[in-house]
Amino acid sequence: MDYFPDIVPAHSAFLAPMAGISDHPFRLICKRLGASVLFSEFVSADGLIREEQRVRQYLHFCREERPFGVQLFGSEPATMAKAARIVAAYQPDFIDLNFGCPAKKVVKTGAGAALLSNPDRLQAIAEAVVDAVSIPVTGKIRSRWKIPNRKTLTGQVDEMMIEIAQRLENSGIRAVTVHAVASGTTQLRSDQSKETPGQKIPYPNNIRWAAIAKIKKAIRIPVIGNGGIWNANDAKRMLDETGCDAVMVARGARGNPWIFSQISHLLCTGHHLPPPTWEERKKVILTHLALTLDFYGESQGIRVFRRHLPFYLKGLPRSTSLRSKTGQLNDATTLLKEIEEYFDALEQ
Ligand SMILES: Cc1cc2nc3c(=O)[nH]c(=O)nc-3n(C[C@H](O)[C@H](O)[C@H](O)COP(=O)(O)O)c2cc1C
Repeated sequence: MDYFPDIVPAHSAFLAPMAGISDHPFRLICKRLGASVLFSEFVSADGLIREEQRVRQYLHFCREERPFGVQLFGSEPATMAKAARIVAAYQPDFIDLNFGCPAKKVVKTGAGAALLSNPDRLQAIAEAVVDAVSIPVTGKIRSRWKIPNRKTLTGQVDEMMIEIAQRLENSGIRAVTVHAVASGTTQLRSDQSKETPGQKIPYPNNIRWAAIAKIKKAIRIPVIGNGGIWNANDAKRMLDETGCDAVMVARGARGNPWIFSQISHLLCTGHHLPPPTWEERKKVILTHLALTLDFYGESQGIRVFRRHLPFYLKGLPRSTSLRSKTGQLNDATTLLKEIEEYFDALEQ
């Protein structure tokens, strides 16, 4: 199959893989609001081989989510190839390889961003997975990583990342996402999924996009730019400044899935969409809640949705009391009623 370049709609916005966040319900919400391509949360290749039933939830998707890719991480070429064959049986549109996760629990196994320090292993993984499946395979790298025993001067790091991108291209990888990071020493907490507003965001503010432009110039396959897109203007600026083929949004979509329609409207018309009305916000939040309860069942569904609600309410007037009330709630009917009443009061 030779169609991956076609499913990268030119100048559009992808929803990023986000552990604990980019699940089936949230992906559907983002897709309905204009995200062009969706990724699963990352899935451990070892975990998938050991306990396919337990991780099945991560592999579930529906037709509406296409084009959809499952992201895998792991450190052994043979294990990654085996896991990729299991994933391919679920018929996603592509498989994405994680070469960028800096979480301790991932890098200590030699997977994720650790592979950026081991280009031969990274290439062997890419080749093994490309050989193992007939669907397209893509890769996600970060533009900086603390390379052991190497000086991390900007120019040198960029050169090393260019070499990695070229190795991926030569291995048959069909598109590369570049997560542009400014500092080589930034580490994510190992438990990213519990991150909530108000907690320190473990990313530098100063995102460096130059690496995306350099990598774009050095390879022929599509480059997806990622890092620091918080609104439609940022997306347009990244496309203009780096020449990347599409952009990918992670944190900017949490509690703000409207960012996708805002980006596509700006790119198509040159004009900005107005922010969503209270009524639109209420409708999307309640749909997200309903999809989550439907997918996980009430007890787990409420716990999962509690990760999203504070982001939806961030910065909204008089939302503190709703936030603290709903943080404790365990029944869906009351949760729904509290959200409805809050937005109805705003509308009056
Ligand atoms: C909560 C959270 C979970 C993440 N999980 C993943 C993941 O599973 N796989 C991955 O490749 N990147 C993951 N990332 C990184 C994002 O995909 C993205 O590269 C990064 O957040 C930079 O994009 P942004 O500036 O738009 O947030 C995660 C980020 C966050 C905030």
